[in-house]
Amino acid sequence: MIKSVIFDLDGVLVSTDELHYQAWKKLAAELGITGFNREDNEKQRGVSRMASLEVVLAKGDRQYTNEEKAALAEKKNNYYKEMLKDLDERAALPGAANTLKLLRERGILVGIGSASKNTPVILEKTGMLPYIDKVSCGLDTMKSKPDPEVFLIAAKKLGTPAGECLVVEDSAAGIQAAKAGGMKSLGVGPYYNTLGADVCAASLAAEIDWDKLLAM
Ligand code: BG6
Ligand code: MG
Repeated sequence: MIKSVIFDLDGVLVSTDELHYQAWKKLAAELGITGFNREDNEKQRGVSRMASLEVVLAKGDRQYTNEEKAALAEKKNNYYKEMLKDLDERAALPGAANTLKLLRERGILVGIGSASKNTPVILEKTGMLPYIDKVSCGLDTMKSKPDPEVFLIAAKKLGTPAGECLVVEDSAAGIQAAKAGGMKSLGVGPYYNTLGADVCAASLAAEIDWDKLLAM
């Protein structure tokens, strides 16, 4: 039986995956990297800021020192934070708000397991905070998905054994992390049927048999 559902944030509850892409694209253009595209962006789903930067730099032909990389990651984050200024409830992905309400009504605990260090501000601006019991994010972790750390921290904060947690993810790295942590998984998003999740659905607005899912 599932007692807690742990949601990834970007691309699962909120459309901020698109803003990440726009911010990386702006940085890439400044670096003269013209080949960075949506296909590359798929490799950034779920992984940390620094791992996402490596995906961009791999499309160029220059080597960067660790200091330069840190400065570039900060620059991208500043572009991203500027885009987040306009964020509100409209950024919630279809079905997200209803799903959070449904789980609350059923007495299921809800956690966040996201690589993003911007998680707190996004939850606040989109009005989702009241529906979230515990948050585990890039501010809590040392390792990036597919390592299960972010989900194990969420499970611990929720007080639920890993085997009674369901992870909802839009990235292959995230589904691998859920499996590595011994958790059940629901894959959603543009690549939902290729993620290797236990159950998959195009989005949270799709017909999802929550009775069956929560009985897993
Ligand atoms: C993940 C995104 O949720 O967070 C990645 O899928 C992103 O693309 C990562 O790089 C880190 O986000 P942030 O906000 O800490 O730069
Ligand atoms: Mg995601």
